Amino acid sequence: MFSLINLHRRAAAAVVIALALGSSAFAADKTLYDRLGGKPALEAVVGELWAITSKDKRINKYFANTKPEAFAGQLVDFLCEASGGPCKYKGQDMVAAHTGMHLKNKDFDALAQNVVKALDKFKVPAREKKEVMTMLGSLRSSIVNH
Ligand code: HEM
Repeated sequence: MFSLINLHRRAAAAVVIALALGSSAFAADKTLYDRLGGKPALEAVVGELWAITSKDKRINKYFANTKPEAFAGQLVDFLCEASGGPCKYKGQDMVAAHTGMHLKNKDFDALAQNVVKALDKFKVPAREKKEVMTMLGSLRSSIVNH
């Protein structure tokens, strides 16, 4: 019965250690949303993204008629939900939101570069930065060439 008893002992020990450390010790248990710092962090990053993008001559023509507060609110809700946060995004899906803009890969890349700059300004760690960029990258085909 060596193995079963040992297995039970190990499992019990793991539970004790987990309780002693507290669940926050396990970064992998936390959503990307939590690890980024929740809604205040997303608001800060989106605010910076707007500051950079509205001055970016490569792509700011697309946002000529955009109301910054309303757009930022939608983007925060979208990112919050997509990163496992408690928000409910109520805007259009990504294809519908960008249809008619005829965005190209270079436009997407320009915005993605601005996202990296905004994440860097707030010193978002490499792991979270990679997860955000992977998540945004997965949306490329919904956003480009529509
Ligand atoms: C992964 C990248 C992107 C994400 C997650 C994203 C997300 C969003 C969201 C959530 C909205 C709001 C839709 C609504 O209110 O129903 C939106 C609208 C918009 N997006 Fe994007 N977008 C991305 C890429 C881009 C790019 C590359 C451009 C142009 C260079 C762009 C230009 C716009 C514009 C002009 C609007 C309309 C803003 C307005 O309400 O005036 N987006 N996007």
